[in-house]
Amino acid sequence: MEIFTTPAAMQAWSSRQRAAGHRIGFVPTMGALHDGHRALIDDAALRADLVVVSIFVNPLQFNEAADFDGYPRPIDDDVAACAQAGVAAVFAPTAAAMYPPGFQTRVVPGPLGDVMEGPNRPGHFEGVVTVVAKLFAAVRPDVAVFGQKDYQQLRIITQMAADLDLSIDVVGHPIVRDPDGLAKSSRNVRLSPSQRAAAVVVPQALDAAIAAAVTTDSSYDVVRAATVVIEAEPLASLEYVTVFDATDLTEITDLGAVERSPGAVRIAAAVWFGDVRLIDNRDLFEP
Ligand code: PAF
Repeated sequence: MEIFTTPAAMQAWSSRQRAAGHRIGFVPTMGALHDGHRALIDDAALRADLVVVSIFVNPLQFNEAADFDGYPRPIDDDVAACAQAGVAAVFAPTAAAMYPPGFQTRVVPGPLGDVMEGPNRPGHFEGVVTVVAKLFAAVRPDVAVFGQKDYQQLRIITQMAADLDLSIDVVGHPIVRDPDGLAKSSRNVRLSPSQRAAAVVVPQALDAAIAAAVTTDSSYDVVRAATVVIEAEPLASLEYVTVFDATDLTEITDLGAVERSPGAVRIAAAVWFGDVRLIDNRDLFEP
C-alpha cells in the first residue's frame, strides 16, 4: 500500500493508474476509522479497480477549536486498517500541504447548505466542500463513496460534482449501526460509558418518528414523537429534529402533501451528549 502526503504525489500516482486503465474508487475520511468506513471501502472496491482512502482532519470544517483539537487521530491504526482492507493508496496530507501560505479560495455550497446543519455550524459546509474539491483534485477518482449518516453532506457533494462537471460518480452508502442501533461515528469514542448507553435514544427517537408517520400527516406530530424520546433521557440535549425532502432538503410540514414512498422524505436529528454532538437520519418511509 502506498502512502502519499502531498497533492502532487497523489496526483502523479493517480495519473499513472488512470493511464494504465485502472478505475479509481475513493473514500474521503478524517480518520479514526471504524466499521462504517470499512463498509465504504468495501463498497468502493466493488465499484473500482483500486481504492484510495484519504485521512485528513480538515481544520476548515470545524466550528470549534476544542472539537478540532479533540478529534481522534489514531493514524497508525488507520493506516493498518487501510492495509488490511486492501486499500491501494492512502492520502494523508498535512494541513500545510493542503492549505499552504497564500491559500485563499473557498468553494461555497448553494441552498442545500442553508438548512439543518448549515445554520447550526456556520462555515462547516464551505469547509467540507472546499476540502472535498481539493481531495477530488488530488485523487482524481472515478467514483467516491460517502456515508449516508452525513446525509446533507452527501447531497451537497453530489450537487457540487454535478454543478462543477467533475465526472465523478458520488455514491451514498447506507448507515452502519452498532447492534443497539447507534450510527457508527468517529465521535462515538469520545462518549463516556454512561453517555454511550444514553446515546441509544437517538436511533430510538427516529424509530418512534417513523412509527408515528404511519398514522399522521402532521410533521409536527412526527417530530414530537422523536423529541419525547430524546427529552426523556437526562444526558441528551436535543439540537434539532426535522422532516425534510430527501432531494432538495427543504423542511416538510405536511406529509399529506408529499409522496409516501421510499427515498422521498427523511428525518434527521442532532443531539448533544456533553460536548459530543451526534447526528443521525432515516428514510421516513423506508420499506
Ligand atoms: O465526512 C467526513 O469525514 C468529512 O466531512 C470529509 C468528507 C472527509 C471531508 O473532510
